[in-house]
Amino acid sequence: MGLAIELKNLSHKYSIGTPFEINAVDSVSLKINQGEFVGVIGHTGSGKSTLIQMINGLIKPSEGAVFIDGVNIYDKAVSLRDIRFKVGLVFQYSEHQLFEETVYKDIAFGPKNMGLNDNEVDKKVRYAAKIMGIDDEMLKRSPFDLSGGQMRRVALAGVIAMEPQILILDEPAAGLDPKGRRKVLELIKDYHENSGKTVLLVSHSMEDVVDYATKVLVMNKGRVFCYDDTDKVFSKAQQLQEIGLDIPQISRFALALKKYDVDLGNNIYTVKKAVQGVLNLTTNKEKL
Ligand SMILES: Nc1ncnc2c1ncn2[C@@H]1O[C@H](COP(=O)(O)OP(=O)(O)OP(=O)(O)O)[C@@H](O)[C@H]1O
Ligand SMILES: [Mg+2]
Repeated sequence: MGLAIELKNLSHKYSIGTPFEINAVDSVSLKINQGEFVGVIGHTGSGKSTLIQMINGLIKPSEGAVFIDGVNIYDKAVSLRDIRFKVGLVFQYSEHQLFEETVYKDIAFGPKNMGLNDNEVDKKVRYAAKIMGIDDEMLKRSPFDLSGGQMRRVALAGVIAMEPQILILDEPAAGLDPKGRRKVLELIKDYHENSGKTVLLVSHSMEDVVDYATKVLVMNKGRVFCYDDTDKVFSKAQQLQEIGLDIPQISRFALALKKYDVDLGNNIYTVKKAVQGVLNLTTNKEKL
């Protein structure tokens, strides 16, 4: 598997030279393989949004470098415009950026900007609409007549329509009701599975990413707290709790049971894994 993203010693300071100077991202180095689904989690203010905006060329690092497909994107010879087509970023509350008269036109905005002709744009719009569960009838409607969840899906489709090699989503499920959240997250998971593209999903909530992510990056105070396979990150559930992160409910349950000498195992973060842990306990007992 090739390397999609490499960050080398990446830092960003805001308000340099003022009393408000802050190291929002501090010496971050990591590699992300092509086709990976990385869940990026951390507290509010831990530097998640700053980090991902440096990856698509929106925020210039104070120090360090970002390589996309081996190319240093802040090199003078590189067009940041091209990088932004390659690395699609869906902002937090992305529906606020909808502005066209119809859903179709909104999704078409990105591909048009890429200089594609009407026929190619049409193909891209229909491709992205299908992925995000937007039917022909909805394409004709005004984006402002839609529900919050539907608007969010339109905004996501607008970025997917540019067919970026890397898709980065900043809190794509924030502010939606539970049904809307699940739907958006499931659609993103399906997109990842079907397209094989690299996906980074930023969230406060570990519960959002555990079912989907192949890797998890935990940010804490601008630094990498840990970055590893999802399984391995959750074997540290207790440390994650210690830095004040909300671990999944089922992980809390497994930790609580340990106090009663019931050990379901170290990496319980889905109900499926908890069930397996219980089954292992009972089969071990039978052997005794
Ligand atoms: N434009 C800005 N000017 C000054 N400081 C900023 C700016 N944007 C962010 N910060 C500060 O940088 C730090 C990191 O912010 P960032 O938005 O990257 O965190 P985050 O992890 O995305 O948080 P959240 O979960 O709330 O979205 C915070 O302390 C924040 O207050
Ligand atoms: Mg943020």
